[in-house]
Amino acid sequence: MIIAVDGPAASGKGTIARALAARFGLPHLDTGLLYRAVGWWAHAHGADLDDEAEAVGVGCGFPPALLDDPALRAEAAAAAASRVSAHPAVREALLARQRGFAEQPGGAVLDGRDIGTVIAPGADAKLFVTATPEVRAARRFAELRAAHPELTLAQVLADIQGRDARDSGRSAAPLLRAPDAALLDTSEMGIGDAVRRAIALVEVRTGPASR
Ligand code: C5P
Repeated sequence: MIIAVDGPAASGKGTIARALAARFGLPHLDTGLLYRAVGWWAHAHGADLDDEAEAVGVGCGFPPALLDDPALRAEAAAAAASRVSAHPAVREALLARQRGFAEQPGGAVLDGRDIGTVIAPGADAKLFVTATPEVRAARRFAELRAAHPELTLAQVLADIQGRDARDSGRSAAPLLRAPDAALLDTSEMGIGDAVRRAIALVEVRTGPASR
């Protein structure tokens, strides 16, 4: 069984995808981490992130251990990811790895921006998780403020809006709700309710989890 979870930054999709993976006993891939690794590695090696050949040539050579580096969780890595992910050659270079993960025996849960539209269009269940930019910014601000006391809510909101605009406006695999994806707006939900609702939406498509 393949479950595709897409949505914008700080919508709750990562937490929801991990909870679905635990509930249905499936492996999980956070595909954003792959784009973060490409962006971070390209940036660290002085590549021009807006140059497609440099981004793919340098960034896609990241070492596998980078995927475990906490630096990838930082907003700087997210911003770099959002720039390199606009290049079709970067997306193409990461495609086989994501498809291979999705199509492994027994299935998988993947979260990202184009799982239901490009990576696994035949997924058994698709969710599009969203929330208003203001709610997403407030969540991200609450996560970041202890480590980054200099940040303001207005800056975090501007970053989220910039990333939304880049992710939705690019021509290569833009952030889009697949026509057959169930919409889950978490703006007025706590994470516990959002997870329960996500499980219910998946079970509508696939039947109840067997454990
Ligand atoms: O999901 P996360 O916030 O880690 O993603 C970081 C960035 O990577 C996104 O803003 C987006 O530009 C890019 N991305 C993408 N396609 C995916 C996952 C992430 O373009 N499947």
